[in-house]
Amino acid sequence: MALYKKLTFFFLAFFFFFSCLPFSLSSFNPKCEPAPPIIPVAVYPTDVDLIQFALNLEYMETDWFLFGANGRGLDSVAPELAMGGPPPIGARKAKLDPVTQRIIAEFGYQEVGHLRAIKSTVGGFPRPLIDLSSHNFAKIFDDAVGFHLNPPFDPYLNSINYLLASYVIPYVGLVGYVGTNPNINGFLSKRLLAGLLGVEAGQDAVIRSMLYEKAFEKVKPYNYTVAEFTVKISELRNKLAMCGMKDEGIIVPLELGAERRTTSNVLSADADSLSYSRTQAEILRVVYGTGDEHKPGGFLPNGGNGTIAKSFLKFPHHQ
Ligand SMILES: *[C@@H]1O[C@H](CO)[C@@H](O)[C@H](O)[C@H]1NC(C)=O
Ligand SMILES: *[C@@H]1O[C@H](CO)[C@@H](O)[C@H](O)[C@H]1NC(C)=O
Repeated sequence: MALYKKLTFFFLAFFFFFSCLPFSLSSFNPKCEPAPPIIPVAVYPTDVDLIQFALNLEYMETDWFLFGANGRGLDSVAPELAMGGPPPIGARKAKLDPVTQRIIAEFGYQEVGHLRAIKSTVGGFPRPLIDLSSHNFAKIFDDAVGFHLNPPFDPYLNSINYLLASYVIPYVGLVGYVGTNPNINGFLSKRLLAGLLGVEAGQDAVIRSMLYEKAFEKVKPYNYTVAEFTVKISELRNKLAMCGMKDEGIIVPLELGAERRTTSNVLSADADSLSYSRTQAEILRVVYGTGDEHKPGGFLPNGGNGTIAKSFLKFPHHQ
């Protein structure tokens, strides 16, 4: 009986709603446009190089994810966006389980959109030479643990290896966007940057959550757990960037956990749980793997392109 009454109520509510709809739609006119910008400049001239800098990382992520999921990269999806730049070295399809494959494919297509959005807002440069070979990742993992892993770490071998290798990349983009934000002025540039940051942070969060589910499992055949590898990689990035602690593994000492109340660390963030921020020079030290923004290597064997990365390459390396 009670159920019958409820149903009657819903039907009445339903009819009432629809009978009022034409009237309510015409009187209620929702506004979807954001408030006009206070300073009506879409892109400041100084925004251009700062945002273009991100292309170095976005190109890397595009081919890393697309090849990993599909065995084919940017040239198979939107070749014009590569602007004639060379294909990546050593990229290939990874042996992924079906869920990971679909997630990584989605990330890859998202990166294509990022390339298009950046170029249509501030222009761009061709894809630089990018090293996505197993050899390059093996070297990063050797550097992270401090000795030669035997057998060499192969990022394409299985889902967990691929996710650990992915832990290396979007995070750097994310902290880079946080770092660039205060220096961006145009309203369109800011809209773009926030949109890129949001998705980049989401990708990092998904990768870290998937790793967290296996945090205490050993990564065969090595004597390290998934969590231990993430800690080692984060430590390596902190060392290469040379600007203190801005990067944390998925399990941390209590002092580094959120509000010092947990050792789980699905997201890497500071004492107020805000994302860390890095400068362009710090990012290049990490992705070059050399700890020196003047000395290319690692993912970008010939260095990055765009005014900012090239300006570092012009100066001889002081040491
Ligand atoms: C860098 O970009 C410029 C265009 O902005 C292009 O002419 C040049 O070939 C690029 N350099 C490399 C190494 O890709
Ligand atoms: C593996 O690691 C554990 C703890 O990290 C250590 O106690 C053990 O001796 C290691 N085993 C080998 C074979 O290296």
